[in-house]
Amino acid sequence: MKRINIGLLGLGNIGSGTYKVLELNRKHIEATTGLDLRIAKILELDTTRERGFAVGPEKFTQDPEAIFADPDIDIVIELLGGVEPATSHMLAALKAGKSVVTANKAALAENYEALTEAAKASGAQLRFEASVGGGIPLVGAITELLCANEFTEILGILNGTTNYILTKMAEEGRAYEEVLKEAQALGFAEADPTADVEGHDVANKLSILMSIVFGTRVRPEGIPTRGISQITKKDIEEAEAEGCVIKLLASAFKTADGVECFVQPTYLNKTHPLADVRNEFNALFIKGNAVDDLMLYGKGAGPFPTASAVLGDAIAIAKTLP
Ligand code: HSE
Repeated sequence: MKRINIGLLGLGNIGSGTYKVLELNRKHIEATTGLDLRIAKILELDTTRERGFAVGPEKFTQDPEAIFADPDIDIVIELLGGVEPATSHMLAALKAGKSVVTANKAALAENYEALTEAAKASGAQLRFEASVGGGIPLVGAITELLCANEFTEILGILNGTTNYILTKMAEEGRAYEEVLKEAQALGFAEADPTADVEGHDVANKLSILMSIVFGTRVRPEGIPTRGISQITKKDIEEAEAEGCVIKLLASAFKTADGVECFVQPTYLNKTHPLADVRNEFNALFIKGNAVDDLMLYGKGAGPFPTASAVLGDAIAIAKTLP
């Protein structure tokens, strides 16, 4: 069996989910891939928190170099979140020739060129399936399986927290603040949920998507963005009276002059397939000139769905290693 040693940066919400899914499915992964994936070292300050599983204290380190300089570490998984120090750590890992898997949309959207160029320069791989759409395998679908298409538009629900809040407000008449707390407790929200509710998380994801779908680099600050913090019960009732639901949509489409894009709460007629995307589910609508209309749907947030994408990327890299 091929042994693959992983250096994990961050054992928080998603890091713990990744650890648990790897243990839960270890036998299945070994049987189907012939790979023995081991989390060998973990960069994490909080070594004592109760996570519901035991980690040998010898695995923890507070020195990132102990991971990047270790010849036995094959893959680095970055799950720290936030732009820094995550970007610097990923650049250092790639420079050291380690392939990197990340779920970090903020770091990627902010530093897409630097990170992809560092990977190209070192010949290591950079994979980021979990950064957009949680467990939905849309990055792999777009960059690999659909690469024979030219795309003209993207329309998506790309944030689980806000979709959860809007669904519970509309269907159960519950208050915004109360549902936000619930989404945080379920592990959907960012450490600072402002990024979710003000639309910045979606802008980061749309920025990444535009790079891979259109080959167009638009920084997240360049995307006109409005979140859901101002949406009231009355707005939702008015939408309902018109046969609509309110969804936080990410849109980008090709124009004669380039690409137009925005993130904003939008009235969607209940007959639209995206209107049925409820709770923490996400969906991406894309139009390719060969495949035509396509919708990818699944859980966009939460430790286990995100871990599914993270480990899928790690396994894809591991298969290519000698
Ligand atoms: N906070 C994000 C969301 C996590 O709610 O969608 C997944 O990117």
